[in-house]
Amino acid sequence: MDTHLRKKVEDIIGEIIEISLLENQGCTSEVRKIVTDGETYLLKSSFSERYRNWLKQEAKVLKRLENKHIIPVPKYYGYIEEEKSSHVIMSFEKGIPLTLALENSNSIDEKKLLIKSFGQLLQQLHQSQIIDSLITTENWLDYQLARAEKYLNSGDTDGTLELLNKLKTSIPKSVKQTMIHGDCTTDNVIVKDGKVQMFIDVSGMTVGDPRYDESLAIRSFKNNEEFIKAFYSGYTRYMVSNDEFLFFDKGLYEFF
Ligand SMILES: Nc1ncnc2c1ncn2[C@@H]1O[C@H](COP(=O)(O)OP(=O)(O)O)[C@@H](O)[C@H]1O
Ligand SMILES: [Mg+2]
Repeated sequence: MDTHLRKKVEDIIGEIIEISLLENQGCTSEVRKIVTDGETYLLKSSFSERYRNWLKQEAKVLKRLENKHIIPVPKYYGYIEEEKSSHVIMSFEKGIPLTLALENSNSIDEKKLLIKSFGQLLQQLHQSQIIDSLITTENWLDYQLARAEKYLNSGDTDGTLELLNKLKTSIPKSVKQTMIHGDCTTDNVIVKDGKVQMFIDVSGMTVGDPRYDESLAIRSFKNNEEFIKAFYSGYTRYMVSNDEFLFFDKGLYEFF
């Protein structure tokens, strides 16, 4: 880490004793564990314009959730913008992403318990009270379609014009908007003590369409009937139809 950034980080958390790159990296960032005298922190850094924007939004969300104790997310410590990079400092959480916990487990029953707890945590989010300061738009889905179009025009997306046009003509009947995570894959929730207990990677957390979260949550085990059953034993408030799943997971998600 260059000395300029290090100094800025130390202004927030005090003298750094140790820095290490995490074994598990994400797709949009570089993550490091930072140890000081009394605490352990996570430094998340992004470099491209798009990912820096997402990181800035993540910092905003974490800051707004600070002291609210409604939604379990890492604790926010600070945000730093450099000329060519942006950085968020948050609490380092002991635990592992659900994707890894599922890979590590050899027992089907244990995997089912993990997945059920994921359903429970997501249900808790979708039923939690709306946090006004996290509302970004009146109609989340319209806004996401406009965002998809913007990414398409800039040529930086897997989605195609054909897919976007198809989505625009097959918008599912609207449901009540709720608090959502906005990128709720098994990579972005943390398992501690055998249960999914926390959301990470929260730049998309806002008020929106809960079916997007639900679709991304089940995407990695959609064809496993037992796992789907386990998920819905924890997430009991609604079950996406196949068309809804396709619209969100094989549709909208392609653009981001
Ligand atoms: N607060 C945290 N404490 C511990 N590990 C974390 C924390 N936040 C992220 N990680 C680890 O870093 C990885 C990447 O973080 P994430 O926020 O998902 O980045 P990306 O946006 O690049 O996907 C995660 O999969 C997880 O292993
Ligand atoms: Mg992630």
